[in-house]
Amino acid sequence: MTINSFEQRLLDGRVTRRELLALGGGFAGLLAFGASPATAWASRALPRGGVCGANPFTLGVASGEPLDTGVVLWTRLAPNPLFGGGMSEAAVTVRWEIATDDRFRRIVQRGDVEARSAMGHSVHVEVNGLEPSRHYWYRFIAGGETSPIGRTRTAPRRGTATDAMTFAFTSCQNYQAGFYTAHRHLAQEDVDLVVHLGDYIYEGGVGVNTPRQHNSAEITTLEQYRNRYALYKSDPDLQAAHAAAPWVVTWDDHEVDNNYAGDHEERGATRDAFLIRRAAAYQAYYEHMPLRTSSMPVGPSLQLYRRLMFGSLLQLDMLDTRQHRTPQPCGDSFILRCDGARDPAATILGAAQEQWLLDGLTSGAATWNVLANQVPFVPATRRVSPDGREWNGTGSPALSMDKWDGYAVQRQRVHAHLRDARIANPIIITGDVHVSWVADLPSNLDDMSSRPIGTEFVGTSISSAGNGAAVTPVGNGMLSDNPHLRFFNSQRGYSRCRVTPTAFTTEYRVVPYVERPDAPISTVAAFTVEAGRAGVQRS
Ligand SMILES: [Fe+2]
Repeated sequence: MTINSFEQRLLDGRVTRRELLALGGGFAGLLAFGASPATAWASRALPRGGVCGANPFTLGVASGEPLDTGVVLWTRLAPNPLFGGGMSEAAVTVRWEIATDDRFRRIVQRGDVEARSAMGHSVHVEVNGLEPSRHYWYRFIAGGETSPIGRTRTAPRRGTATDAMTFAFTSCQNYQAGFYTAHRHLAQEDVDLVVHLGDYIYEGGVGVNTPRQHNSAEITTLEQYRNRYALYKSDPDLQAAHAAAPWVVTWDDHEVDNNYAGDHEERGATRDAFLIRRAAAYQAYYEHMPLRTSSMPVGPSLQLYRRLMFGSLLQLDMLDTRQHRTPQPCGDSFILRCDGARDPAATILGAAQEQWLLDGLTSGAATWNVLANQVPFVPATRRVSPDGREWNGTGSPALSMDKWDGYAVQRQRVHAHLRDARIANPIIITGDVHVSWVADLPSNLDDMSSRPIGTEFVGTSISSAGNGAAVTPVGNGMLSDNPHLRFFNSQRGYSRCRVTPTAFTTEYRVVPYVERPDAPISTVAAFTVEAGRAGVQRS
């Protein structure tokens, strides 16, 4: 593939948003995606029911990024969701409404927004002027069709005392691995917020003997990523979870490609080829998430790390440990000792994000400092096969180079800052590994029995890895080799947190199976950290 100067600037992130918009079709010329079907749902013909009677709201609605004064409202017009969306190239005007009641008797704001083909006919409405700590209901209208109704909630007033907030965190929802029963239960939890820690989609091809199947071979183009998001978001349980509460999202690797690192692809694609793929994946991610326009992608770059405040109770730092990292040392496998893991130049955050994180922790004034993180932070060995590829629970103890264990020098700096700057009540919430564990963060990373300065709650997957079990050889191996681990469970589910000025409690909510869609939910364990007293207590 030859790269011209514009494309090179785009790959380097030096193309301005204005230039991209001036292209009319975004960077569609660079990222080949197919034309919409001839039967497209078009803006110029909007009889009640739309052209061909197609409902454009097949992917549901969502909200996110709550402030004390506003939220982002999202939908995407896609009457033919699995095959490019089914829209023509024309822009479509979408009406949005937000009300203080679910029957829309008291609509407090409404407006029109353009859904453009360059953005997959997605819309991201940034609503301002709302009241803090309040539920709102929202909907969209286009082509004579009205969307499902979503409920959202604004954050508590910035800097003011807040009695309590609840949120859930979740990750890893491989569509093929099982049903989204956990999302169905999550939709009933009445939490103020859902935090998604990544692996919202998986990029792989069609599974064999899986409960559900992907809709194509491995995805690499914008159209393919769009169709994959459409498959995932067509799930009614996932739509229900979005419609029930605002979401704050970050990504891990599978939104682009397994175990990618910055501009480096696991199977050795050239940097240029991979960045073109990454640009397609990032654009599709933005199109399908309730993100602010400040996260609109520019070429292969997307600003994802950011900070949200919930009264004076909680500061939520959303991390991005994929886009800015250097390649995993010693490959991306499991190994006990790897010199590269102690390379001072290795980074999982990048220099700018590290500085942003440390500065924000220093200046923050919240009772709880929550780091929403992708891959496990606290050191932990696991037993793996002799070739270092398989985590089997019976082989030799090793560290995973794809986690913070592979970037020990930067972890040391973040850890030292948490400890030495006496950051208030650090809590790390983590996804990625498709199991749950709880680990206190020791004051000395070389002595795991040293006094704790914080706690990491690792949350399990919604569906990835399929049916789980409470007790497994993998878990038993980790617990026996890592005495600082307080809990291990391999079942599917999500984590529910209740936060007050005096306590932070995490409940592990699990389903016994995912290969059928009717599993019940239960709490398998709960842990509490008391404010001012680092270290978790089983509750
Ligand atoms: Fe995952």
